[in-house]
Amino acid sequence: MSEDTGKGGFSLFDAEERILAGAKSLLERMAGGDPQLLSEVGTLADAYSRSVREQRRLVKVSDRLQNQMTQLNQELARRRTEAEEALEKLRQAQETLVQTEKLASLGALVGGVAHEINTPVGIALSCASHLDDATKAIRVLFEADDISVDDFERYMDTAADTAKLIVANCERAADLIRSFKQVAVDRTSSERRTFRLADTIAETVTALRPNLRQGGHEVTVVCPPDLVLDGYPGALSQVLTNFVMNSLTHGYGAGACGHLRIEVEPMGDDWLRLRYRDDGKGVPEEFHNRVFDPFFTTRRGSGGSGLGLHIVFNLVTGPLGGTVVLENSPGPGASFLLEFPRVAP
Ligand SMILES: Nc1ncnc2c1ncn2[C@@H]1O[C@H](COP(=O)(O)OP(=O)(O)OP(=O)(O)O)[C@@H](O)[C@H]1O
Ligand SMILES: [Mg+2]
Repeated sequence: MSEDTGKGGFSLFDAEERILAGAKSLLERMAGGDPQLLSEVGTLADAYSRSVREQRRLVKVSDRLQNQMTQLNQELARRRTEAEEALEKLRQAQETLVQTEKLASLGALVGGVAHEINTPVGIALSCASHLDDATKAIRVLFEADDISVDDFERYMDTAADTAKLIVANCERAADLIRSFKQVAVDRTSSERRTFRLADTIAETVTALRPNLRQGGHEVTVVCPPDLVLDGYPGALSQVLTNFVMNSLTHGYGAGACGHLRIEVEPMGDDWLRLRYRDDGKGVPEEFHNRVFDPFFTTRRGSGGSGLGLHIVFNLVTGPLGGTVVLENSPGPGASFLLEFPRVAP
């Protein structure tokens, strides 16, 4: 708001000016009258005139402040636009980074797959060619009618041994291929529906009973019975299965019986926290940030492919839309913490 002093226009201090003019003419008319009265009215007129001057000054200050405020607001709007642009650029950079990262891990995975499958396939192949050679040799003896009982027994031993190796290694290769298929978590193939979490956990534990019974292991489940989720029960069940199988494989020596625990609690209205814990040997500190890497295993050569927890990671961060970490648990055992929304993204 600024004072309009234009001629004929409205002036902010018109009324005050009129009063000052009135006071001046009053003083003129009173000239020669009671000097006491004259002096008092004079003082009043002076005070009023000072007050008007002060008001004018305040109006100017206020105008200046208003201008500054307008400038500040403009500056603020400009900075905000800049910040929004920067954020957008950051988002794009992040997306590119994620894509690059995905490609890199895909490359590593493909390399790993080739490397892992190479071993059993290579062994099966050399066994098969060994069997082929032995068969050719015995056929030569047979056709020459020069075959002894010893020759035939030796051949049967060779055939039995190599066949066993071929089957075992082909099974290993088939297992690996099955795991690799799971790594590429396919959202569309895993069915989405609403489900009661406690039921899914109970069903999974029941399916694992034969494995658990072998070592006399116990599972405790703590889960609100009426918790209903909308998402992928199959993915969750696979996650729990991998956790349990890991506990049984890595956590306990022969004869040790484990106490496994699955605990679910709500995290606000929309999220859940699921903790899986065993009381076995635990994961050594130096492996903590590698357990989710594909092909990280401490049992290479004795059945471990190192994909179990990588699959867990992909399922939790993919279809379930959550996070999973290996906790630094005090005390024995391994403890995994999952946080995910009730409604999968
Ligand atoms: N409950 C556990 N207790 C102790 N160590 C564990 C546990 N779970 C996982 N680990 C460690 O983490 C490693 C990686 O686990 P992951 O499930 O990915 O592979 P794996 O079990 O070795 O092989 P795979 O699951 O493919 O058969 C294991 O080799 C083991 O050293
Ligand atoms: Mg495993």
